[in-house]
Amino acid sequence: MANFQIAPSILSADFARLGEEVDNVIKSGADVVHFDVMDNHYVPNLTIGPLVCEALRKHGVTADIDVHLMVKPVDRIIPDFAAAGATYITFHPEASEHVDRSLQLIQGEGCKSGLVFNPATPLDVLEWVIDKVDMILLMSVNPGFGGQSFIPATLDKLRQARKIIDASGRDIRLEVDGGVKVNNIKEIAEAGADMFVAGSAVFGARDESDANDYDTVLKAFREQLAQVK
Ligand code: DX5
Ligand code: ZN
Repeated sequence: MANFQIAPSILSADFARLGEEVDNVIKSGADVVHFDVMDNHYVPNLTIGPLVCEALRKHGVTADIDVHLMVKPVDRIIPDFAAAGATYITFHPEASEHVDRSLQLIQGEGCKSGLVFNPATPLDVLEWVIDKVDMILLMSVNPGFGGQSFIPATLDKLRQARKIIDASGRDIRLEVDGGVKVNNIKEIAEAGADMFVAGSAVFGARDESDANDYDTVLKAFREQLAQVK
């Protein structure tokens, strides 16, 4: 079986108890912390920056932190996130004047780099920078908000991205972000994704018996992934 990773998006967590929320999803079996950074400019919402990433590290979070930049421009903030403990830093090619330079900057800071593709954005830009990419992230909703519905055309786009990755022969993660639920994760995995962001599906599903427990939803995700052909 592929090495599937589940990355809860803290966008849907209780921000007043963020450290505890992250501890609880990791304890329940999540692999990666997906960290959505929005600037009310590139996307119409405003969230969290490097200080919060650093606070999670200081709190004791050791899991990979997957920083999804929805900001424009991107270069100024990259070193700050690297210093704050980011593992992955991904950005939207539309948000950088010099995509190759931004990718180099991320890797030069010792982080893994990635490009994020909006639903209407083609994958062409990968052609000349695939050697500098550690992750391809396909948006399956328009960025800016949690709780939106998965856009089905993403499945074909995942198959296309999977071919590009396989042809490159490189170790590149294929992540999907938006509207991932227990009832569609299997189909999404079969289209080629190996890393799954889930915000509302995870943080909206605290176990009834124990408000601090995400075991049930994460187990349901794993059961679906175990059936992937
Ligand atoms: C949207 C963010 C997502 C979001 C996903 O712009 O990039 O990470 O939190 O939320 P759900 O899983 O609720 O669609
Ligand atoms: Zn995201």
